[in-house]
Amino acid sequence: MVGAVSPSSKSLGKKMLSNIDFSKDKLIVELGPGTGVFTDLIINKMADDARLLVFELNDNFYNSLSSRINDPRVKIIHDSAEFIHKYIGETEKLDVVISSLPLMVFPEKLRQDVVNESFDCLKDTGKYIQFQYSLQSKKLLESKYDQVKIQFTIKNFPPAFVYNCTKK
Ligand SMILES: C[S@@+](CC[C@H](N)C(=O)[O-])C[C@H]1O[C@@H](n2cnc3c(N)ncnc32)[C@H](O)[C@@H]1O
Repeated sequence: MVGAVSPSSKSLGKKMLSNIDFSKDKLIVELGPGTGVFTDLIINKMADDARLLVFELNDNFYNSLSSRINDPRVKIIHDSAEFIHKYIGETEKLDVVISSLPLMVFPEKLRQDVVNESFDCLKDTGKYIQFQYSLQSKKLLESKYDQVKIQFTIKNFPPAFVYNCTKK
């Protein structure tokens, strides 16, 4: 379920956030924060009137994040990533989804459900940003998004690929 040997580096986090325009991207979802390395970076960058919804299924990570993060812009949610729609308004759409989920170790149905849910909840101009340790997710993400740009960093253990996906 965790799908990682250690928390990600700040360097990978900075790469994950490098294509986000925090002056415009104000409704943000993070999937699979773990210890919150990326969550802290997002909180430092997000606008005063932005909102961050954080989905973490693991009890220990959820409890630790909930007790540590006390910011009115942030909601820590103890639910699975394929249920984003339950936590946004009926007419609301997301600017960004930042995902650390270990997609390729998920069962096929969950993998599809998470990717479809993120896509459906994003604005047409929205961004889906995912890191993985391999290029295995390329086909899956290209089947949904018109553009999938991949960055790579060795400043993480293990080295990681960042997928930047947009609808147009
Ligand atoms: C690879 S870890 C990434 C943690 C952290 N973002 C980092 O990069 O160090 C994946 C995280 O996704 C969480 N997770 C796994 N399945 C999930 C699901 N269906 N919904 C929400 N979170 C999930 C795990 O509990 C874990 O915290």
